[in-house]
Amino acid sequence: MLQILIGLLAISTIAAVLALLLEIADRYIADYGEKHILINDEKDLLVKGGRPLLFTLGEQGIFLPSACGGKGTCGYCKAKVLEGGGPVLPTETPYLDINELTQNVRISCQLKVKEDLKVQIPEELFLVKERLTPDVKNVQFRILAPEEGIAFKAGQYVQLEIPKYELTSEPEFRAYSIASPPFEHHMVELIITKVPEGAVSTYAHEYLQINEELIMRGPFGEFCLRDSDREMLMIATGSGLAPIHSMLRQMKQEGTIKKTTLFFGDRKPEDLLYYDALRELERTVADFTYIPTLSRTTEEDHWTGEKGRVTDLIKKYIPDQSSIDVYICGVPAMVESCLELLTQKGVPPEQICFDKFE
Ligand SMILES: Cc1cc2nc3c(=O)[nH]c(=O)nc-3n(C[C@H](O)[C@H](O)[C@H](O)COP(=O)(O)OP(=O)(O)OC[C@H]3O[C@@H](n4cnc5c(N)ncnc54)[C@H](O)[C@@H]3O)c2cc1C
Ligand code: FES
Repeated sequence: MLQILIGLLAISTIAAVLALLLEIADRYIADYGEKHILINDEKDLLVKGGRPLLFTLGEQGIFLPSACGGKGTCGYCKAKVLEGGGPVLPTETPYLDINELTQNVRISCQLKVKEDLKVQIPEELFLVKERLTPDVKNVQFRILAPEEGIAFKAGQYVQLEIPKYELTSEPEFRAYSIASPPFEHHMVELIITKVPEGAVSTYAHEYLQINEELIMRGPFGEFCLRDSDREMLMIATGSGLAPIHSMLRQMKQEGTIKKTTLFFGDRKPEDLLYYDALRELERTVADFTYIPTLSRTTEEDHWTGEKGRVTDLIKKYIPDQSSIDVYICGVPAMVESCLELLTQKGVPPEQICFDKFE
């Protein structure tokens, strides 16, 4: 048994070393020369070969959606590659369904540009621009360029790029939902939760300087308000409140808040984001109800509100067969639990819209 284990260990170590050597050779020695990428049968780009398609397009000012910064873990960076590109890689298949596979959809951060490519991407992605953002106060960014600012729908997100620093070996970018309303074109507010050892969130919390200029790309995303007369239930935890806050501010500005309830969950009273603003909204808009719930209160907190998780609020307040539109945003586990409960309560899936911060 010991021999087999040692044998297996030796084989997997050799395989890992070989894979590493191949990657190093591919990155630093292999020279693929210049390649053509023909986009939508119109735009012919001459690019340096060898880099992933996602980054190669980004260098040309074409930004595909991405939440994981090209690590191959979000599956957002899809593009149709009609010619070139080679076989689909095992790292792509988890994110592609059978339809996409037959239509030559690829995960662009995994596919390296080693030959001429013919690519198809949605036209609206040409409108996604890099934006310079200085004058940083916590996570509020003033748009420096382009002059007209940013146009987005409430609920969408941007990719925030940070420079290489001591925790990273290269610039990194991640997705952050816009918390400010769309009518503020020259300011973008993000709520960034610090993730232990997290590359971008740590930078935003500990390294970002006032007046520092960063690059932001976007907007991206489909988590947007629907045109419907149904009553709304909004559910968020932590920074998942960002896109919902943007939606509420937009609806308030337009005077279109219909009967809406917001369930917001966090741990302690001091975690309650936008608490005063949401209570104020509740006071001024008759149809809006804000129900925060806390999961880690102690007696010293003197908290008299709801205790527990947002799922407890669903159980308590949402009757079976409710005809409501639901918007959920936050960490994947919370979103999954809410989806399960709401489905059990008979809310039709097509009336539930969600965004997972994975
Ligand atoms: C559409 C979309 C919108 C998003 N909007 C927001 C937003 O408004 N605000 C916000 O704060 N985040 C948001 N996120 C999450 C954000 O993109 C990053 O994933 C997050 O900030 C972590 O990035 P990082 O570089 O700091 O950590 P990484 O360097 O990517 O991760 C470091 C380690 O932490 C783990 N990790 C990653 N995320 C978490 C987490 N939440 N909790 C615990 N461990 C984690 C990773 O698995 C990894 O092991 C959004 C994500 C998506 C997909
Ligand atoms: S960018 Fe996340 S999978 Fe490609």
